[in-house]
Amino acid sequence: MENITRRRFIKFIGQGSAGLAISPLLIQACAPGTTDLEELELVGIEPTLRDEVVLADGLKYDLLIKWKDPINDKDFFGYNNDYTAFIPFSDDDGLLWVNHEYVDPKFVSGYFGDLARHRRQVEEEMLHVGGSIVRIKKKRGKWEVVPNDEYNRRVTAKTMIPFAWNEPIKGKTEAMGTLANCSGGVTPWGTILTCEENYENFYGDTHENGSHINSLYEWEIFYNNPPEHYGWVVEVNPKTGDAKKLISMGRFAHECATVKELPDGRLVVYSGDDKNDGCLYKFISSEPGNLEKGTLYVASLETNSWIPLDYNSHVRLQGLFESQTDVLVKCRQAAIAMEGSQLDRPEDIEIDPVTGGVFISLTNNIPKENYHGSILKIDETDGNYESLTFEWDTFLTGGEESGFACPDNLAFDASGNLWFTSDISGKFIGTGPYSSFGNNGLFVVRREGPQAGKVIQVASAPVEAEFTGPTFTPDGKQLILSVQHPGERSKSIYDFDFTSHWPEGGNSVPKSAVIVISGV
Ligand code: FEO
Ligand code: CA
Ligand code: CA
Repeated sequence: MENITRRRFIKFIGQGSAGLAISPLLIQACAPGTTDLEELELVGIEPTLRDEVVLADGLKYDLLIKWKDPINDKDFFGYNNDYTAFIPFSDDDGLLWVNHEYVDPKFVSGYFGDLARHRRQVEEEMLHVGGSIVRIKKKRGKWEVVPNDEYNRRVTAKTMIPFAWNEPIKGKTEAMGTLANCSGGVTPWGTILTCEENYENFYGDTHENGSHINSLYEWEIFYNNPPEHYGWVVEVNPKTGDAKKLISMGRFAHECATVKELPDGRLVVYSGDDKNDGCLYKFISSEPGNLEKGTLYVASLETNSWIPLDYNSHVRLQGLFESQTDVLVKCRQAAIAMEGSQLDRPEDIEIDPVTGGVFISLTNNIPKENYHGSILKIDETDGNYESLTFEWDTFLTGGEESGFACPDNLAFDASGNLWFTSDISGKFIGTGPYSSFGNNGLFVVRREGPQAGKVIQVASAPVEAEFTGPTFTPDGKQLILSVQHPGERSKSIYDFDFTSHWPEGGNSVPKSAVIVISGV
């Protein structure tokens, strides 16, 4: 794509309308006071290993909230912030939802993996995952959290959450908590879809032969919660904190849940299973305004089709599973049985606001020697999101030539420029196939103008961190962005042996935080 001509790029991605405007963020950043689109130039930064959020000239950032900041008298902001979503009351006032994906016990509870596990450590860790809801307001151009606002609350691994399903799951009608909350989505009715991704790290998993697979964090020593209670999409009302687990969308390492509303009010929701050789899914609801019922499909890139994972209509599924509930709980097995395509870690998904194409990050597949990943584009037949057939193509391929590796979170701005973050694993940053890339970054691919089709790096993350959860503010002038796991390879918290000191500098403990990027 790097060498593609501008004309060919525009043909590929689809040209915008004649009146299409460049995003206000870029106007502010690159050409204050001018609307001459042809003159806009955004100068990318060089890859760097600096322990800072490094931004392209013309951009600045403000810290919004960081790990452990109090949000009210009893709750604090959780660990490893990921997905963000803004539910506006107005352009400068609203609720911010933030996912808290996983814990690093050495930071969170002082557990180093060497001695016996204690209940008090696990109890502490359970409060650091899930999600945060905070009221934020913009004052004189700067967003601030409203302390002690009545909407401020936490959802954690201790919050009891019912299953939205007509049968119990492993004998229970509710789960203890939500965890592994990676990316997500927003429904047209203003609820949040928070996705449970690497759930097996907390309570383990169940092997196909029925045996228990131990977890990384060993929470099951103290709570025998079934692994089947995790790995779902969870719908949360940010105004009340009410939550439910949507069994209808299947159980796997859900990266995201990207929503498209059909003309009759029913929804299509796209979601990837972020693991090597994981599948891509879409769910089509059967009723407007309700995600509890519908049909789940898995993508076949070999047959360009969506295959229903429907127990009643497939003899093959009837031979392997006990019921539709069993199909959804063991969704990965059902998807493989129905010959869904095994992809290179399908992560975030976004829908192009100009052409309607569905863009999917395929981060990498290291066992298959795909180190740099790519971005896949699916066009549903006739632009109909209910269609069960599609065309697909590779939009961008990572590598030295294109200047990025391991694409993860995606976000289109209102003008249809594609912004994306990279997720090179902390232990590989600056080494081997990643030696030319520096720290993880934020990139933009412009749709129009002289830079159309070029991958431009606009930000670099602190040491070992990853940018996640990009969300544009309603006016498009600012980008809310998570900075996740700076200094994740630090050895010890006791002798202050940290690999990063972001965001507070000096000799401080590294902390995940949410920032807001604006034009200067
Ligand atoms: Fe939590 Fe697949 O990133
Ligand atoms: Ca991710
Ligand atoms: Ca990732």
